[in-house]
Amino acid sequence: MTTTRKRVRKAVLPVAGLGTRFLPATKAMPKEMLPVVDKPLIQYAVEECIASGIEHVIFVTGRRKNAIEDHFDFAPELESFLESKGKSQQAQMVREISGGMHFSYTRQNEALGLGHAVLTAQELVGDEPFAVLLGDVIMDGPVAATRSLIEIYNETGKGAITVQEVEPEELQFYGVIDAEKAPGSRWGDRLLKVNNLVEKPKTGTAPSNLGVSGRYVLPPEIFEFLEKTKPGAVGEIQLTDGLVALAKNGSLWAHVHDGKTHDAGDKLGFLKATVEFALRNPSFGAKFRKYLKELDL
Ligand code: UTP
Repeated sequence: MTTTRKRVRKAVLPVAGLGTRFLPATKAMPKEMLPVVDKPLIQYAVEECIASGIEHVIFVTGRRKNAIEDHFDFAPELESFLESKGKSQQAQMVREISGGMHFSYTRQNEALGLGHAVLTAQELVGDEPFAVLLGDVIMDGPVAATRSLIEIYNETGKGAITVQEVEPEELQFYGVIDAEKAPGSRWGDRLLKVNNLVEKPKTGTAPSNLGVSGRYVLPPEIFEFLEKTKPGAVGEIQLTDGLVALAKNGSLWAHVHDGKTHDAGDKLGFLKATVEFALRNPSFGAKFRKYLKELDL
């Protein structure tokens, strides 16, 4: 018997957080609009959506986040100004920012946690599987992280999350998976069956060295689990609680990302991403490398 699964067409990008780790830069400006070289962080996530076959991006926004809407909107005045100055390449670049994607916006009135932000998108997502991408995380690698998760969903009909190896002293800042190998799959050792997850484990108690890194493909049942979730100690509804319920149901895979993960919502992570992307830049990467070598470190 063949099962026809609903396609993963939609992605939820929660951008309503307060960005406290990046103050004072984020007092008036959305963290997701901080540029890594020449593109705001959120554009990297939207480009990953495009590369993964997503057709509809749902932003969960909040106060002071209007710049994100403007960034993905049409800009006819800017385009005609650039055209009139003979800068048609730049005009084209501005036109292509949205990549033909359909955008919707919904508002999380209070930053009550990632789980709450995802729940806020329920009506726009409807009864179909969907992706979630954290806009302050840039995933680098040969295959778009979300694309791999969608392929896993297509093959298994189950939710999937991206994980990465994390240094022992950093595990306390992550959701950490308790998982077992899933032999025989085409993803080899990179695919794991998740049995449980622990949010920010105390030092020495983490069930593995694999931390959840900000990409998810989830079945719509996740909403039922999130609706039942009570706010935790800091008054937030964690996405991890919904993921634990999926895992306990035997419905969650983890994919070990084949590439680098940059947590650019953190100052050091942001600087590392900036340096790496600048070194790769075709127009000034070589000059930048030379400059770094000349610095008296
Ligand atoms: P983070 O925890 O990295 O973002 O959430 P934050 O809360 O803005 O940042 P800090 O920790 O205070 O510095 C990951 C993503 O989820 C969104 C954030 O905007 C960010 O892109 N988020 C988080 C929401 O949309 N709503 C929330 O309630 C929390």
